[in-house]
Amino acid sequence: SIKQDLAGQHWVITAGPTMEAIDPVRYISNHSSGKMGYALASAAIARGARVTLISGPVQIATPAGANIIAVKSADDMLAACERSMNTQADVFIGAAAVADFKMKAANDQKMKKQSDTDEITLTLVKNPDIIATLAKHKRAKTIVGFAAETQNVIEYAKSKLERKGLDIIIANDVSRTDIGFNQDENQVTVITQDKTWSPDKAAKSELANQLVEFIQQHIKSSS
Ligand code: C5P
Repeated sequence: SIKQDLAGQHWVITAGPTMEAIDPVRYISNHSSGKMGYALASAAIARGARVTLISGPVQIATPAGANIIAVKSADDMLAACERSMNTQADVFIGAAAVADFKMKAANDQKMKKQSDTDEITLTLVKNPDIIATLAKHKRAKTIVGFAAETQNVIEYAKSKLERKGLDIIIANDVSRTDIGFNQDENQVTVITQDKTWSPDKAAKSELANQLVEFIQQHIKSSS
């Protein structure tokens, strides 16, 4: 049986893509499957944590025992995170692929095809940075982010750790087609202020166990 060493801890995890409405029938989104965030939720539950999983639209099964909150937009995801961490959580993991931009003003009605125009312009504005906002307000004791990069992976991830005020960042190279987005395996590098660790490529479920162990060790060593 698995040690219940996370009993009494509250972990909040975001997963999946966000979906930004253009009008009532159309949206902007991305290919995130939600697999990594869901695997982390399962791994934390298995060790006894109370887990709130705040998820964009995905096609995978909810981990047994998770308190799931289904959201669509980044604004909704941020609001759900803030509500869930009204009392400070122990760990927040931002595994969601949050859309960078949303419509400046989504249309209330379905946009009509204009027979006289071949081109339209959508005006987009930046979404809130969910994890940076939560880190700024210390909504969790330990804040863990992901960094999907295609080049200078470690360097870019390190600067994200600093800029967003995170404790741990998990970097992966999304230019590789054998890992990451939509794949069942992942290969990551875990970065903190003073450590860099690259576990072997592994199934997301196995990697999730190792990442939960790393986070727990980090909490123990920094308290
Ligand atoms: O997209 P980016 O590379 O900045 O993502 C890095 C981290 O920030 C991820 O953990 C992601 O979930 C989080 N993020 C967020 N809100 C955003 C953009 C990214 O929480 N608007």
